[in-house]
Amino acid sequence: MSHPVAEERPAVHGDALNLLRAAIAEAAGPAAAAQRVVDVLHDRFPAYDWVGIYWVDGSDLVLGPWTGPQATEHTRIPIGTGVCGAAAASGRTEIVADVDADPRYLACFPSTKSEIVVPIFDGGSVVGEIDVDGSDLHAFDGTDARFLEEIAALLAPLRPRT
Ligand code: SME
Repeated sequence: MSHPVAEERPAVHGDALNLLRAAIAEAAGPAAAAQRVVDVLHDRFPAYDWVGIYWVDGSDLVLGPWTGPQATEHTRIPIGTGVCGAAAASGRTEIVADVDADPRYLACFPSTKSEIVVPIFDGGSVVGEIDVDGSDLHAFDGTDARFLEEIAALLAPLRPRT
């Protein structure tokens, strides 16, 4: 009775993590595994309207696998620009409850109302990030952040090597 509910992982998140660990292990290679991750996140979580991974390439973020209703024109974002670039620069998860109220926001889709961006770390450096757009205001909270941070740890070994 004394367990703090906020610290418990929702069953849907535990199930998705288990599914993704297995899917990554079985995938043909890192690119296929990363694509599977965005597909599963998009398909299992109705609030995750558009899900993409950006990988760090020098001083830019470059779009990797994504799933959603539309392609984004923002396939290369300088680190430091936009919500994506802010998360990459600081190494901190960004939760934007209302994108129209955030001057950093780079618009991709007219339907987007909120956004979460979670850095992917490897060896202490940001090597990429997960970007999720939602069609509702306040679509994401700390539970999504903790979940996507666990997913980010699974993605780190899948980054493209040059
Ligand atoms: N909105 C992001 C740009 C990426 S699109 O959402 C896919 C930003 O502000 O950085």
